[in-house]
Amino acid sequence: MTCWIELARDAIQLGRQELESRMASVAVNASPPIPLPGHAHVMQLDAPGNEDWIRTLACARRILVPIAQGAPEDLSETVKRTEHEGVTSAVRLWPGDHIPETLARTIGGGIAAGGGRIDLDDPDRTYLLLRVPGTEEFWLCRELAETDRHVLRHRRPGSLPFRKPVTLTPLLARTLVNLAAVPPGGRILDPFCGTGALSIEAGNLGYRVLASDKDGRMVRGTLRNLEHIGIVPEAISQCGVEKVVETFEGHLPVDGVVTDPPYGRASSTHGEEAAAVVENGFRTLQGALRASGRMVFMLPQRTDPAMFGNGWEEVYPPFPLHVHASLTRWVHVWRRTKG
Ligand SMILES: C[S@@+](CC[C@H](N)C(=O)[O-])C[C@H]1O[C@@H](n2cnc3c(N)ncnc32)[C@H](O)[C@@H]1O
Repeated sequence: MTCWIELARDAIQLGRQELESRMASVAVNASPPIPLPGHAHVMQLDAPGNEDWIRTLACARRILVPIAQGAPEDLSETVKRTEHEGVTSAVRLWPGDHIPETLARTIGGGIAAGGGRIDLDDPDRTYLLLRVPGTEEFWLCRELAETDRHVLRHRRPGSLPFRKPVTLTPLLARTLVNLAAVPPGGRILDPFCGTGALSIEAGNLGYRVLASDKDGRMVRGTLRNLEHIGIVPEAISQCGVEKVVETFEGHLPVDGVVTDPPYGRASSTHGEEAAAVVENGFRTLQGALRASGRMVFMLPQRTDPAMFGNGWEEVYPPFPLHVHASLTRWVHVWRRTKG
C-alpha cells in the first residue's frame, strides 16, 4: 500500500527520524520514506496494508492514501466510480496549496454523481486535494486514519496522580521511546525515571518496562502513575544510575535505554555534579544495553559520543528542542557499538 504520512509542520526532521526508527523497530518491509514533491512535511512510502505501527507516531498527524493524479475533471470521474452507497464524504483543500474552492465542488459533484452525499461537518470519508508542483494537476487522496498525536496532545501530565515540573509531556515521551527503535515486546530501561513519563509511554506501546531513580519518592511516584494507567513494570527499583547493572541483574541486557538525566536546574542531582552523573551513567549503561541497542536521551547541550570514549556512536545528529530563552534540550540518539 502506498501511503502518505503527514508530519507535524514544526517537527519535520524529528518526525522523519521517528518514522524511520519505528520502521526499524517493527522491521516493516517498507520503502524508505521520501518527501512528497512540493510538500516537505508529507512522507511517502510503500508499506504492507496494516497501518497500526504508523498510528503510534507522535510527530505525525495522519495517514493518507493517494487515489489518483490528474486534472480536476479526471479526478471527479475517478470518485464517481468509487463506491459511495450510504457513505458521507467531505472534500478538503490542502492548506497552503492555494487551490480554488471551485475544485472541491468539482470533486463533490463526482461524489454526488456516484450516489454519495456530502457532509462537511461529520463525514465518514475525507478526501484531500494537493497541488502537483509545477503542473495544472492535482493529487486526490483519502484520509485513512489519525495518529495517536491527537490523543497524546490532549493527555496532559496533570491527569497523573504524581507529577512534578520535570514531568515530560506524553507527546515528547512517545517520540523519545519511538526513536529507540526497540522491537515489539522488547525491554526499555529508564535509569532516571522521575515521575515515569517515559515508562508510561514505553508501557503503552507494549514494551517491558524497567525503571529506577536515586530518589525513593520518584520511584514510588512512578509506580503510582504506572498503576493508574494499568501498566505493570517488569522491574522498578530505587538506585543511583551507577548501580543499575547489579540492581537489574537477570533482566539485562535491555533492548533500549530511553532517559532524561538531571541537569541540576528543575531536577535534583542529589548533590553530585550533573556532568559526573551523566558521565558515570553513560559508562554504566553500556553494561546494561545490548550491542547495537539505542540510547535516547536529552541534555541541555549538544553532546559528542567521543567524549565518553569508545562504545557509542551517533544514529542521528542531536536535535534541538527550544524550551525557553535560556534552555534548549537536545535530543540524542546513540547506538552501543561494542559487543
Ligand atoms: C529530569 S528528571 C527525570 C524526569 C522524568 N523524565 C519525568 O518525566 O518525570 C531526572 C531524575 O534523575 C534523578 N537522579 C538524579 N541523580 C541521579 C543519579 N545519580 N542516579 C539516578 N537518578 C538520579 C532525579 O531524582 C530525577 O528524578
